Amino acid sequence: MRNYALLLGTAALMSIGQAALAQDVANTDAAYSEDGRYYNDEDIPTFNINDEGAVDWLTYSGFRRYHSECHVCHGPEGEGSSYAPALKNSALEMDYYDFVDVVVNGRQRINAAENSVMPSFGDNPNVMCYLDDIYVYLRARGVEAVPRGRPGAKEAKSDVIREDENACLG
Ligand code: HEC
Repeated sequence: MRNYALLLGTAALMSIGQAALAQDVANTDAAYSEDGRYYNDEDIPTFNINDEGAVDWLTYSGFRRYHSECHVCHGPEGEGSSYAPALKNSALEMDYYDFVDVVVNGRQRINAAENSVMPSFGDNPNVMCYLDDIYVYLRARGVEAVPRGRPGAKEAKSDVIREDENACLG
């Protein structure tokens, strides 16, 4: 009986520890915004849902870009497929810079047992110019801040985002 209580106590402590850890790792809360983009307190891009329930522009744009460039391998809505991992989890678990690095440079595991190739997108402006969009969309999906499907209400695209996009696309 005593052991059982001890076990329960330990399990409760462990789940508190894990929740705290997941919170730290994800850090998806928007701390500030700049010209329509949102960042957490570590200056990493993140999503935002405003008081009217509208998503920020990047999350909306990321939904579209993800589904034109990534979903063939990674599955709809970042859910993953038998071929490639669920990016809605990767975007929470991986460091932002590691995430970007894999997309820019690609990554592969090819051996007797596996044939797993993530192409490099470093030369593809349709991905590079929208990398933060895709990233924040996937983080929003990862914590289920946005449901599956095309986001409904969205914030307007800011002039700065439009100018940056045009400069990036060249
Ligand atoms: C042709 C198929 C394919 C396409 C298209 C593709 N990926 Fe991948 N991706 C993969 C595979 C396969 C892996 C696993 C690679 C490995 O085993 O190291 C992967 C891995 C990744 C990882 C590492 C995930 C992790 O948890 O380690 C990231 C990040 C990623 N892809 C992002 C993207 C993004 C963003 C796009 C769209 C711009 C994209 N991928 C498009 C096949 C693809």
